[in-house]
Amino acid sequence: MKANRWEDHYARQARDEKWLARSVYKLQEIDKKYKLIRKGDRLLDLGCYPGSWSQYGIKKVGSKGEVVGIDLTLPERLSFPNFRFIEHDILSMDTEWLIREVGPRDVVISDLAPQTTGIRVTDVSRSMSLARRALGIALVLLKKKGHFVCKVFEGEDLKAFKSEMSTHFRKIQTFRPKSTRKRSREVYMVGLELVK
Ligand SMILES: C[S@@+](CC[C@H](N)C(=O)[O-])C[C@H]1O[C@@H](n2cnc3c(N)ncnc32)[C@H](O)[C@@H]1O
Repeated sequence: MKANRWEDHYARQARDEKWLARSVYKLQEIDKKYKLIRKGDRLLDLGCYPGSWSQYGIKKVGSKGEVVGIDLTLPERLSFPNFRFIEHDILSMDTEWLIREVGPRDVVISDLAPQTTGIRVTDVSRSMSLARRALGIALVLLKKKGHFVCKVFEGEDLKAFKSEMSTHFRKIQTFRPKSTRKRSREVYMVGLELVK
């Protein structure tokens, strides 16, 4: 098959290693650096389609752990006993319902991204709304000392977001994985050890 213009080293590697998307290498890099996901963990993956982050999480948590993925789109290629999918818009999820349906989590990861319009202010603002909602969900579901990872597009509100995160976690870090495309404005915020 002829490589399309988006195909790069990571996309080829993902295909060869049977990952569902090249974005798996971002989570792998973050996890290697911060040691977020452990065997037996209960993980929540926000914006999980097509499924590479969940796929990575399913392997890491093992049969005694559990991964719940939420997205607007069904990750049809993910079917594992320790994986559960919820089709929903995270912006309109009721908190009480989330607590009942998902329950306490050791780690919450979010690779949520809006449909980009090409208009910078709009894209940055939509990404920030998703990141804020992801943080809100993490704060409700994470156990004490749980970890949070969240994608956000760089923009004016990032400083305020970092400052909000720093009031909830023992340590926060901004991380840009090597596998992030050069022209992308995305960074990942990592919150280590929720303080409750
Ligand atoms: C970059 S993709 C995630 C890729 C995924 N981490 C992987 O490795 O396969 C971003 C996802 O966020 C989802 N998303 C965007 N807005 C959402 C919302 N309001 N509620 C739920 N999912 C949303 C999109 O449907 C899309 O699948």
